Amino acid sequence: MKEKTLAIIKPDAVKKRIIGKIISRIEEEDFEIREMKMLWLTKEEAKGFYVVHKDKPFYDSLTDFMSSGRIVVMILERENAIAHWRKVMGATDPALAEPGTLRHSYGFSIERNAVHGSDSPQTAEWEINYFFPKTQ
Ligand code: CMP
Repeated sequence: MKEKTLAIIKPDAVKKRIIGKIISRIEEEDFEIREMKMLWLTKEEAKGFYVVHKDKPFYDSLTDFMSSGRIVVMILERENAIAHWRKVMGATDPALAEPGTLRHSYGFSIERNAVHGSDSPQTAEWEINYFFPKTQ
């Protein structure tokens, strides 16, 4: 069954001018891009998106980073989209990500890791609704 996930190209990747490379990979991996937009989050919007991490020591730094420049947010659709996108991204920490994954190729650190993806169907629904409330 087809499934949707939320993907974000983070400010580090936008600044490196690799939006095109990441979108090429998304299309090569047979995802359909259902929605896409470029945004520059406020600190408050970044805090809202990552509210699940509000008690983590990296919350302030993460939300500073995520509001430090433009991002690209997308709804991706294919069979098994959530797990497949996570496989294409690789481990959160680029140092631990498998060769060939986006984070291995383009991530800089555990925080500046180029891309984001939803981690479960419930999270995907919540995250898609956060950025694309009219598409539900
Ligand atoms: P993401 O997949 O967007 O989900 C939460 C984000 O928090 C993660 O990618 C990283 O950008 C960041 N993150 C996770 N763990 C750490 C950590 N230990 N230190 C700093 N940032 C982290």
